[in-house]
Amino acid sequence: GTAAAFVNEPFTDFSQEENKSAMKAALNKVKQQLGREYPLHIGSDRVMTEAKERSINPGKVSEVIGLVSKASINEADRAMAAALQTFDTWKKVPPTERAEYLFKAAELMRQRKHEFSAWMVLEAGKNWAEADADTAEAIDFMEFYAREMVRLSAINIHQPLTKINGEVNRLTYIPLGVGVVIPPWNFPLAICVGMTTAAVVSGNTVLLKPASTTPVIAAKFVELMQEVGLPQGVINFIPGNGSEIGDYLTSHPKVRFISFTGSKEVGLRINKRAAETADGQIWIKRVVAEMGGKDGIVVDETADLDQAAAAIVASAFGFQGQKCSAGSRAIIVEDVYDTVLDNVLELTSKLKSGLPEENFAVGPVIDQKSYDKILEYMEIGKNEGYLVAGGSKAEGNGYYLQPTIIADVYPKARIMQEEIFGPVLAVAKAKDWKEAIEIFNDTEFGLTGSFFSKNEARISEALQEMHCGNLYINRKCTGALVGVHPFGGFNMSGTDSKAGGHDYLLLFTQAKLTSRKI
Ligand code: SER
Repeated sequence: GTAAAFVNEPFTDFSQEENKSAMKAALNKVKQQLGREYPLHIGSDRVMTEAKERSINPGKVSEVIGLVSKASINEADRAMAAALQTFDTWKKVPPTERAEYLFKAAELMRQRKHEFSAWMVLEAGKNWAEADADTAEAIDFMEFYAREMVRLSAINIHQPLTKINGEVNRLTYIPLGVGVVIPPWNFPLAICVGMTTAAVVSGNTVLLKPASTTPVIAAKFVELMQEVGLPQGVINFIPGNGSEIGDYLTSHPKVRFISFTGSKEVGLRINKRAAETADGQIWIKRVVAEMGGKDGIVVDETADLDQAAAAIVASAFGFQGQKCSAGSRAIIVEDVYDTVLDNVLELTSKLKSGLPEENFAVGPVIDQKSYDKILEYMEIGKNEGYLVAGGSKAEGNGYYLQPTIIADVYPKARIMQEEIFGPVLAVAKAKDWKEAIEIFNDTEFGLTGSFFSKNEARISEALQEMHCGNLYINRKCTGALVGVHPFGGFNMSGTDSKAGGHDYLLLFTQAKLTSRKI
């Protein structure tokens, strides 16, 4: 390839007046477009259905973001036929040409960066920095996977073969077929774009079923891919109910793979259904499932306590704790427990809650179901430790909750074990750093973690002992960067797909070896 080496898209500095006004202008522009209707994309057809997903602003629930057509089994079937047919031609398009669509889309998204972010501010309740990071990550995924496809397609370079006399041997990576892509709402652009473009740049065609709370930003991405001329039928856009078309497609004999990011419950359900062989199915379906986390930050007595406290607050409450990478547990050794907890409380008390478009630090959670579930966990937490901050609803015409901290929680407590996906931090005391690591590992999940210490021997041991896919030393446990921190978790956190890493596209390809006698 001729592309320059990959570099991450920089984040926007919103303390600069010109960036601030650019973001405000983007928000105004997007607000002019609220309430529109969006069609399904089935091959070259744009299909408006009567049934619609009604997407609302979680921070101002009277505001309708858009009405998105909803596929039933009938439309899912048509989309399947379109994807199957398109696969025959798309798989033959040279990898470098496939990559070009991603480079073009990345460039257009970069030009309209704040507009994409503004849609997320309004549809997902992200503050400006969180939305900006999401858009930057989406751009990164396209730039990164495009280069990856070019690299993988260079014959025998990715996996050099041993030479023998009398034969020419080649290993190439060919696509799998039709995939179902089911992204989450919490990174409604970045993860949707990453999962979808990785699959299509590898030569597959997909059925994209966006999260039902954030279908408009997904529609904007699909429109962008049309604008850069991606052939019709490569990405088929079919919002709909998970229990209806999600289940139906997971069990479909012609589906070759399922790429899912979301909860453990749904991931396990998909895995189970995909394991059944449908009539006429001639392969084992491949499942890529990135699921939950019960991530934590361990602090020992040698650590920089201010930095540790800042990392705990950022990891626990960034985007209201709605990240699979969120640091929902802080495990602190007893010598410095009170000091760190005081620092954490002080930083948390400064977090102001309010409308995302006005860029408050804390916004709403995604929907009524999440809101109710998190409130329930707050009550559970009050019985499992001491409530030291928050603990209830916050003001506003939306799903606002107070950043909540429960101290002195036992390792086996439900709020130390179960993923809450909201602004609830459980704090546990350990007698020493070794016990703190044991408590960290006492979970069925294994996505991210942080260790705060200045002691080299302990850091070495922590690097070995803390069992999670993304382990950070002396920094927060959220905010993995594409290419820099390939992302994915162990155990019930999923299949450790390492999105944004050099292994990722291999999940959407199969290697073909050809050996020719000469
Ligand atoms: N990649 C995100 C993070 O690291 C989570 O999906 O925070």
